[in-house]
Amino acid sequence: MKNKIRSFLALLLLTVAANPLFADTTTVNIKDFQFQPDSKIINLGDSVKWLNQDAVPHTSTSDNALWDSKTLSSGASFIRVFDKPGKFPYFCSIHPGMKASITVRTEEQTQIKIGKDIIAANPKRLPIKLNLANKDPNQVYLGSYIVNAQGGCADCHSCPSYAAGHDPYKGETKQFNAISYLAGGKAFGPFISANLTPDNTGKPAGVTLAQFKDLMRTGKDPHTPGNTLQVMPWPVYGMMSDRDLEAIYAYLTSIPKATQPEPAACP
Ligand code: HEC
Repeated sequence: MKNKIRSFLALLLLTVAANPLFADTTTVNIKDFQFQPDSKIINLGDSVKWLNQDAVPHTSTSDNALWDSKTLSSGASFIRVFDKPGKFPYFCSIHPGMKASITVRTEEQTQIKIGKDIIAANPKRLPIKLNLANKDPNQVYLGSYIVNAQGGCADCHSCPSYAAGHDPYKGETKQFNAISYLAGGKAFGPFISANLTPDNTGKPAGVTLAQFKDLMRTGKDPHTPGNTLQVMPWPVYGMMSDRDLEAIYAYLTSIPKATQPEPAACP
């Protein structure tokens, strides 16, 4: 049972890493002798597609010779992947007065943006309201990225993991179950996943930051001294940096409080 869960988890993490779910292609229209929009911010790894909608030819040519579309006749397009952060000015080599730029977020800015988009962008993948009072929003969004796009915490800690009618395993559009999001209640043999939402004092799973980091690193159950968590993949999560574990904790303190479903109700 345990091995099955572990290999499932390993597969899950691999799938997440290999599948650029959020890698996006942004279109810049070349129209009326302008690049529209003329400044665009994108995530690291995203692509830009230039589409010439004018009747005359244009180019997309990097100021720093990083790319050159060559002549794009009317209706033609050119795509480039941006895999380095920074600001990249470009122009049309046929009409050098046409200038624009692409700004690519750093890796951390990209993770923060994705972590925020999971909750805030449409289509809603996780329709919850975060409590950001007295918090650093960027740290919370980074935590969202780690929990939702890397950690797979909702796979074990939400029951069910996906909203009714939104189960990607059934070919439906993905949306996390927001009602009992991370409220635990899933049974793994005799072990029941914990409710990670804030308790009445605002502490996620009822643990302090110090207890959280300790249990993630050592697997020591803070509620039952001497007990080692048996299902939690803490040997994996425990290798995360302090910054990442603190971001997870900040995120978990921001999510809505929810009641743990009865394990019997969780298949
Ligand atoms: C493979 C399933 C699984 C995954 C994935 C998982 N957990 Fe758990 N977790 C459990 C189970 C089950 C427990 C109950 C203790 C046990 O038996 O391991 C638990 C316990 C915990 C506890 C201890 C709560 C307490 O009060 O003792 C915390 C905190 C926690 N998990 C956080 C997380 C976070 C954060 C993630 C994602 C980064 C995560 N878990 C991913 C299964 C999982």
